Amino acid sequence: MIQLTVAGDAEATARTTAERIAAAIADAREERGAAHVSLAGGRTPARTYRILARIVNDWSDVHLWFGDERCVPLEDPDSNHRLVAETLLAGASQPPPLVHPVLGAEEDPAAAAAAYEVELRAALPGNPPQLDVALLGLGEDGHTASLFPNDPVLEEQERLCLSVHGTKPPFERITFTLPLLRAARKLVVLAEGAGKAWAIQQMIGGPTTRIPASMLDGSGDVDIELIVDHTAAPS
Ligand code: 6PG
Repeated sequence: MIQLTVAGDAEATARTTAERIAAAIADAREERGAAHVSLAGGRTPARTYRILARIVNDWSDVHLWFGDERCVPLEDPDSNHRLVAETLLAGASQPPPLVHPVLGAEEDPAAAAAAYEVELRAALPGNPPQLDVALLGLGEDGHTASLFPNDPVLEEQERLCLSVHGTKPPFERITFTLPLLRAARKLVVLAEGAGKAWAIQQMIGGPTTRIPASMLDGSGDVDIELIVDHTAAPS
């Protein structure tokens, strides 16, 4: 079931999102001694990551994964790892979180995706492994992570992480698949700006491969919160 939260302006939306992630981290550390968080890329989450760095006061035993990554060097301006490094990691207290970068530029994308899946399975039990919280963005076309409209990757049932040729540059990407995302204890989808209003409306309109974000809910028992600012809110 998708819970829609209209959080107000951009700052309020970022703070609400950061608070959700911080709460999931605190619960996971208390209940299981560690937290596994997957992060979104793009531009929107930067404000959220800066706030998150400040409101989480203990990052030990917090594992940061990437729900998707572009196949570029980690220091490339298009790298999602660089986005997180310059926002969340730059402000996080010591000891820092345990970051798991995707090495999609250093090796063949398919091999990098397979290696990332091995690393995730080694760190997190279960089949599929259960992330404590996964932050996702939303594209204007309804994509999320690097799951793009009508891509065959949307039909994947076994693999947790695959390489894709997306429709948003940089085109070569690695992405978590629906089986992994649907298994997360909580999904938080963050979307801001009037340009996302159509995709939000489509996302809550029922599952279709045309709108990958609409497929996150699977059998309807996934805890999904869609957090939007007032300009993106459905009418
Ligand atoms: C990526 C993202 C992607 C992003 C959306 C929204 O690597 O591009 O993970 O899914 O979240 O495209 O991007 P913006 O936040 O820049 O609008």
